[in-house]
Amino acid sequence: MPGILLGEAFPNFEADTTSGRIKFHDFLGDSWGILFSHPADYTPVCTTELARAAKLADEFKKRGVKMIALSIDSVEDHKNWSKDVMAYANEAGSPLPFPIIADEKRELSVQLGMLDPDERNKAGLPLTARCVFVIGPDKKLKLSILYPATTGRNFDEILRVIDSLQLTAQKKVATPVDWKPGEKVMVVPSLPDSEATALFPNGVTTKEMPSGKKYLRYTQI
Ligand code: BEZ
Repeated sequence: MPGILLGEAFPNFEADTTSGRIKFHDFLGDSWGILFSHPADYTPVCTTELARAAKLADEFKKRGVKMIALSIDSVEDHKNWSKDVMAYANEAGSPLPFPIIADEKRELSVQLGMLDPDERNKAGLPLTARCVFVIGPDKKLKLSILYPATTGRNFDEILRVIDSLQLTAQKKVATPVDWKPGEKVMVVPSLPDSEATALFPNGVTTKEMPSGKKYLRYTQI
């Protein structure tokens, strides 16, 4: 079964991109990384997504996350379509601030489980779905999201998730539903109360529950 699971090492693939040939781990260096695929160039939803990603490039940079996109079209198509993307982002003439991988043979798409059997091009070949992979500085997969071609992603949510991943990689906390940076976080269940009070100088508050179990522990980071 092709694909990659959370915690697995992300493949150190080689690929042609709009910035030349890359070896993925060298491209990442010591940074976090985000690889997001789209079904095809010159398609409407993809154009809106990549324009939004381009607009948010500084936000990804601030978080130390290197961006790279992928689809099954050629480097030349990617380069030409990028001009449309930047025009849609109201930045006509500026370069797309991240490379796009050209996976014309679909080898990488198969390896990473990105093909959507329900979406096909005119030749009947499957297109890539809207995958998001976030890779940590240890080159391991920290998050994967998979959307069908017909649903565009929410890049604000992707940034929010990265904020959570980066916070929870450092501290023994988890982020609750709809959490946003600056809001209270939850102490991970595996941490005993005695250690939690020592670890979180802002204090730990516990919400009373009908069960009497004290598992909802909040702190402010
Ligand atoms: C799009 O990007 O608009 C799209 C691509 C493939 C199927 C459906 C929509």
